[in-house]
Amino acid sequence: MKRYLVTGSYGQIGMDLIPAMLKRYGKENVIATGRKKINPVFKELDVIYRRLDIRDQYGLRSLLVEYDVDVLIHNASVLSATGERNPQLAHSINFEGFYNALEATRELNLEQLFAPSSIAAFGPTTPLVNTPNTTIMEPTSIYGISKVYVELMGNYYNQKYDLNFRSLRYPGVLSPEEPGGGTTDYAIWIFYEALKNKKYECFLGSDVRLPMMMMSDCLKSTFDLIEAPEDKLQHRAYNVTGMSFTPEELANAIKEYISDFEITYKPDFRDAIARSWPQSLDDSVAREEWGWDPEFPFDKMVIEMLDGVSKKLGISY
Ligand code: SER
Repeated sequence: MKRYLVTGSYGQIGMDLIPAMLKRYGKENVIATGRKKINPVFKELDVIYRRLDIRDQYGLRSLLVEYDVDVLIHNASVLSATGERNPQLAHSINFEGFYNALEATRELNLEQLFAPSSIAAFGPTTPLVNTPNTTIMEPTSIYGISKVYVELMGNYYNQKYDLNFRSLRYPGVLSPEEPGGGTTDYAIWIFYEALKNKKYECFLGSDVRLPMMMMSDCLKSTFDLIEAPEDKLQHRAYNVTGMSFTPEELANAIKEYISDFEITYKPDFRDAIARSWPQSLDDSVAREEWGWDPEFPFDKMVIEMLDGVSKKLGISY
């Protein structure tokens, strides 16, 4: 069995990825890391957890050696909205952090480095409807620029050092877990506010269409790519998606279950970020090369989110 180390493990994705990895790979083979103290969920699951700031290259290396790690999953990142509020922090965590992960993988000869990219790697000059896997990438957010860096450097190390780098361009990822600082987060907060207060003020305009996927599909795509045989891969970074919708469409779907729910719109700087991103993604390359096949359609997502968030809040609907 291989050993896996995950950075940024208490982020929105990590909170579901770590429990899924424990089941899949065994408790002794998964090392969760993050800057903060261990959270109660990981404590309860008896996860191997170590404190790590990804900018600490020596700290990262010593953990990779101590646990004899084979695969590094580098999720630690400052997301788009937080990045625009603090570009310097985003630069140090996203650029230096990824460089440390890349160099540690090369120097210690690890078997694989997985690091997510994002729809944010695209920009206003990209064809934004059904965005192809290979196309113009001129993002305008610091987060998006850092994801292009991740992809280009990962590709470079793959060609120069034969480093097994793999990446997915995640769309907005939906789960009842509280998200941290992204632009797609509205699609989670809307459920919290609909259940708590029956109203939500959206920070995006009503018509901003964005690609999204349910967390279970996000984890499925991650495991599928990490475990895919190398000879199937013609690319290092892949578009993946599950659905696309606007805030208005999502609000209308929620109204079917909470009839007196009301949405208002007060677009802020995140609206401009969202409008520079794809509205939908063409994920046919992932489908062809390693069999990507999402399971969660829009209607099922709405029910799953309402059930999950209401359980978290202890409010029925
Ligand atoms: N969910 C991310 C964000 O909104 C996109 O990768 O920043």
